[in-house]
Parts: sequence; structure tokens; C-alpha cells
Amino acid sequence: MSASLNATAEHATADHASAERVADRVPAEAVCAEPLSVLGRDVTVPLVTGGEVAYAALDYAASAPALQRVWDDVAAYAPYYGSVHRGAGYLSQLSTDLFEQSRVTVAEFLDCRPSDQVIFTRSTTDSLNLLAAVLPAGCQVFVFETEHHASLLPWGDARVTYLDAPRTPDEAVATLELALAAREPYGPALVCVTGASNVTGELWPVRELAAAAHAHGARIVLDAAQLAPHHPVSLRELDVDWVAFSGHKLYAPFGSGVLAGRADWLQEAEPYLAGGGASRKVARREDGGVDVEWHTTAARHEAGSPNVIGVYSIASACRALTEAGFEGLVARERQLIAKVREGLAGVPEVRVLSLFGDDAPRVGVISFVVDGWNSSHFAAALSAEYGIGVRDGLFCAHPLVRTLLGGEPQAQGECGAPEAAPGERSLNAIRVSFGAGTPDEHVDRFVRAVRELVADGAKWRYRTEEGRCVPVS
Ligand SMILES: Cc1ncc(COP(=O)(O)O)c(C=O)c1O
Repeated sequence: MSASLNATAEHATADHASAERVADRVPAEAVCAEPLSVLGRDVTVPLVTGGEVAYAALDYAASAPALQRVWDDVAAYAPYYGSVHRGAGYLSQLSTDLFEQSRVTVAEFLDCRPSDQVIFTRSTTDSLNLLAAVLPAGCQVFVFETEHHASLLPWGDARVTYLDAPRTPDEAVATLELALAAREPYGPALVCVTGASNVTGELWPVRELAAAAHAHGARIVLDAAQLAPHHPVSLRELDVDWVAFSGHKLYAPFGSGVLAGRADWLQEAEPYLAGGGASRKVARREDGGVDVEWHTTAARHEAGSPNVIGVYSIASACRALTEAGFEGLVARERQLIAKVREGLAGVPEVRVLSLFGDDAPRVGVISFVVDGWNSSHFAAALSAEYGIGVRDGLFCAHPLVRTLLGGEPQAQGECGAPEAAPGERSLNAIRVSFGAGTPDEHVDRFVRAVRELVADGAKWRYRTEEGRCVPVS
């Protein structure tokens, strides 16, 4: 246990843009083929056409499989698990140390400034809702329509300016600058932006957007749900005010997330949740009411018993990724991205969705539509006939996917037959995503499956059940 308790993560100092450049310099022999192993690689699934095949998990952008290392760390800690913070027993103290050390590990992973706070939440959605709950009065929020709903929707009563989808990173910066320059009156403002799109995988110009925000007196929160699993994220280098991410996308699927960054707005606001843990002192008043003194540390927004295992698993993932080194991970992922993109480019019926174009740096998240195919039908066939798990839909980024598909999509019929004639717009898209631990065989099988399905059609019959395509049994 002591090794786990005392483990330290090296600072990840490069931002996403410089990570791309570093990746260019990594010689092929330095790319480790299997940098980090994940659970589930031995799982086989039945095919409708008969037999079994190893499951190809290509839905990392939704939830990545657990790292073996995370699983091992959690299993090693589990017997020592105890209540944290005020428990007097040995295991409570050990667990408290481990919980607070996890905060330090996450701060190091994110290259936080000394005054930043790391708050443990349930997820990115929870983190952004927490930030929304502590906005100062009159705060204006600026968010691109291209964001995930977790970034688009939590802002409640704040005045929100939704920015149109930019077609280049430079246009994103110019659009933001124009909007911020036009704002009236000049009070507190927050920009919320993703680091890597959960639809196109494209990287956003975070540092430049942060500079634009700060030049206009605004703050910026980085939604790193899709960036942090693939690239180092440095609060300092990117000069963002907050970062949010989820454990389950960072190979640590135990129900925790993170909001890290500036303490002032967090500590000036009422606690996100009122209750034990957030309160330092509670006393009855003479008039019969109750006076509360709230913590001014991260605990202020962590009321209730924390998810110790979830938090520890995130710290374990941060250590594992840092020790494995992002350079090798990025370089390996670029090879997989190239394979998938080249494979899809060889199928004329496939259209890959992109905002910033073919040359944009990206993570292993690729969405596409297939002429003549209902995306749900296509995804169902990939699963039932090839054992490949992808996702179809609008990926909780409805405005972005609709923009990329070309406006409001046409309704589609049953999935037993192609609903959209070639060239017609598709209702949904298909998303394939991967990362650490993805073997070449999974992406090779995926590319072969796409080619075969487009050329020969599905081998099985499918029907619509509650809006989704399922194989006819
Ligand atoms: C870019 C982005 N932001 C936020 C979220 C929300 O993450 P969670 O569901 O873990 O709260 C997601 C989830 O897919 C995402 O891709």
C-alpha cells in the first residue's frame, strides 16, 4: 500500500498543441504498441451470424474501459477502505490521507497553480453545474453552439450568448473576441469551451481562446472531458481558470469527476450542496433558527460522504497516464486515427463529420454518416455481425451534429431497409472512438466491417424497437 499512498505524478507541462508537435518528433520505434492495458480485452460476445468474437470497444468517448492499473490499485486499496475526514480509526486516517493525496495528484496532473482548488464531483456535467451555481451576480456566459450539452445547458439564469459554429480555429477566436468586445455592461463573464470535440475529435484553440477571454476581462473554463484522456492538460500553460473532466472517460469508471481552478468564485458562493462535510460549525440561534459557518476549502462544495474509491481511481489513472507518458500515447493514437480515417476515406459512401477540416489536430474520436444507411442500423450491424461497439445518435451535442449534417435532418423510417436514399441527409451519425489499450485489430476490423457493410449490405435483418435498430431474433 505504501507505494500507492506515496506515489507522485510528474507534472504534465505541455499543452495540447505542443503535444501534437511533440508527437510529430517521436520516432516510430519509440511508440509502444501497448502502452497501457485496459480491462475487457478478453471478453467475447456472440454474433447473430453464429460464433463469438473478441469485443471491440470503440466507444471510448462515451466511457473508456478501466485501466488494468486502476483496477489493481482499487483492488489493493479496497480492504483498507474506511470513512474519511473525521473517523478516528486507523483505516479512516489512512483513507483520509489517500483521499487528500489524490487531490494533490490531480493538481499535479493538471499542473494547477498553487492557489487553485481541486474539487471532487460526480462528473464533468456535475463540475460544470457546480461552476454555474457559483457564478457571481450578473455574470455573462459565452459558449459555442458546438459544445456538448454539459457545457451548453447548465447556466440557468445567467445571460448566455451562444456563438455560431466556427469553421476554423482562428474563426473561433475571432468570433469570441467580437462577442466579448460587444458585451454590455462590463461585469463578470465566463467562457466555456471544450478542449476536444466529442463529435469530431478536433482540438480547439484553448490557449488562444483563453488569451482572448482574459484580454476582455472574462474567465474561461475548459471542458476537458475528451481532452484529458488523450493529451496532457496544463492549467498554467493553457492559462485557463478552471478545468472539468470525468473519471469514467479517463479509464477510471468509479463515479467521480473533477473541477479544478480558481478558488475565489467557489469560496465566495453558497455551497453547491448544503450538508455535513461542507459546514464547519452549525449552531441554533436564539430566535430558533440555525447559523452555519461553511468551509472555505474544497470541502465547501463536497458536502456528504465522498466517493473515496472514485477519487482514488482518478488519482490512479492520472499516475498511470503520466508514468506511461503522453508522448507515446499520442503517437500511438495518431497511428490509429490515420488507419481509421484512411480506411473511411476509401469508402465513397462515407462522409466524416468535421468542423475544422482534414488537417486539424484531433483525438481518437471520429463521427461519420453513410449514404443510404440509417446510422442506428449501421451501428447495430457493426455490433451484431462484427462484435464492434460504437455509438450512434447526436452525442449530446445536437446543435453541432445538426450543423454538420446540414440543418434539420429528414425523418427516417424503419431500419430494415435503407431509409435515406444516397445523398440524402441522415438523422443521426455514427461515432467510433478509441484510446489507450486499443489494439490494431479492433480498428482494422472496424474498417473492414464498414467496407463490407457498404459493399454487401447487412447479412441479418433488423427492426426498430423503441426508436433503435435491433437484430430480428
Ligand atoms: C466534451 C464533453 N463534455 C462533457 C461531457 C459530459 O461528461 P459526463 O457525462 O461524464 O458528465 C461529455 C460526455 O460525453 C463530453 O464528451
